[in-house]
Amino acid sequence: MSTDTIQKASIHVLPSLPYAEHALEPAISARTLELHYGKHHKGYVDNLNKLIAGTPFAEVTLEKLICDTVGKIEKAAIFNNASQAWNHAFYWRSLTPEGGGEPPAALKQKIEAAFGSVDACKKELATAATTQFGSGWAWLILDGTALKVVKTCNANSPLATGLKPLLTIDVWEHAYYLDYQNRRADYVAAVLDKLINWRFAAENLG
Ligand SMILES: [Fe+2]
Repeated sequence: MSTDTIQKASIHVLPSLPYAEHALEPAISARTLELHYGKHHKGYVDNLNKLIAGTPFAEVTLEKLICDTVGKIEKAAIFNNASQAWNHAFYWRSLTPEGGGEPPAALKQKIEAAFGSVDACKKELATAATTQFGSGWAWLILDGTALKVVKTCNANSPLATGLKPLLTIDVWEHAYYLDYQNRRADYVAAVLDKLINWRFAAENLG
């Protein structure tokens, strides 16, 4: 699924998980997926629908909603829930039970041009993910023609500032605390080694 087709409905629907809740074990437990997807992600979608019901915001795509409300203090609740709804749908697809390993050739070439090697790219992603203070996200993005690693806080995303996300890692505590407690670095390492979906990132290169 590309970055611009995750959600187009005016009433936003919680997208299906692309795998079973136990499929990411042992790196991420079924219990974490049950709560993260079934409570947190669902909560963002439900809250968003309540906030925009009967307003002009109910008529636009999720992506437009995010770009139209970013940085507007009076629209912060809509932005936060819209962006978290999008970020989570994108995060589930950034992971796969068959993840890790080597990226597809075209992506690998771009990674090597930007970072020197796949391992160096993974190291930069791990650094971004572990140094994000508090809640947030680590991202591999396309900025123009170059790949970059960036981090965002809370609900923020590169999408809101016109950049093209390729994959993301959720570093909110709800993503890992049940399985790893305070060991965020261990969660990030497991994601990068076992779950990261390079194929999804390659598709998003467009
Ligand atoms: Fe999350």
